Amino acid sequence: MSAQDLLLPYLIHSQLNTRRFGKNIFHHSRVTSTNDLAHDLAKNGAEEGTLVLAEEQTKGRGRLARSWFSEKNSGIYASLILRPKMKPCYAAVLNLAAAVAASEAVEQVCGLASDIKWPNDLLVNGRKCCGILTEMSTEPEEIRYIIAGIGINVNQHQFPQHLRQQASSLLLEGKQRYSRIELLCRLLESFEQIYQELQSGSRAEVMKRWVCRSSYASGKSVSVDLGGRKIHGVTAGLSETGGLHVRMDDGRVEEVLSGDVVAWR
Ligand code: BTN
Repeated sequence: MSAQDLLLPYLIHSQLNTRRFGKNIFHHSRVTSTNDLAHDLAKNGAEEGTLVLAEEQTKGRGRLARSWFSEKNSGIYASLILRPKMKPCYAAVLNLAAAVAASEAVEQVCGLASDIKWPNDLLVNGRKCCGILTEMSTEPEEIRYIIAGIGINVNQHQFPQHLRQQASSLLLEGKQRYSRIELLCRLLESFEQIYQELQSGSRAEVMKRWVCRSSYASGKSVSVDLGGRKIHGVTAGLSETGGLHVRMDDGRVEEVLSGDVVAWR
């Protein structure tokens, strides 16, 4: 692996066209989780757009208390500090925005179409290539900060046995290596643009972009594990706060705010 292949700040800055996202980068060879470091920085006043990157994570975290496979030098493990001026109840829309940005970057750089599984898993040919874990610190009426933790499987050649059915990488799906730096730059640019839209109040516009990129938005038969309780039904659009509406057999519509969505037909 040459230095040209590492996520070095000076290489990123030579290609990055953003106002704030990624202007301040902390790059590490090996960390527990980039989200952990980002929390520490945010608590100590790091500015919005500060980015923590690692070549490898030893305790990469996923949603729903899962772990995130973080092989050295092959994926993007990134945590972005955000300080949005919005009520905590709308923070879920930020999740959707991050997924749209990742999907746009993958299309632009790799020419690969992706599907977004609610809320923010990126699937290429049905397999997960990107996941997003947002963690936040809030006051009752405002957000102190949000950490948007983004993991992209870029150049992994294989995955541990227990992940092979669901997980893949852009290399495996696109049959070629991709530049992590180019992907990261396009992702940050796209995310910053959508984020600005959100901040100026255009939640509906952001959700429209998510719906255009997700087969899960409506008409998909799904089961949702709500952590103990399972519901089955057909997806019926997004709620105002970014939740997924699921219409059940008895006609009732449930708003899913967190949980694992599985397509079953
Ligand atoms: C998921 O789909 O379950 C979310 C995965 C998020 C993984 C990223 S990698 C960078 C950041 N640091 C972490 O520990 N997790 C997120």
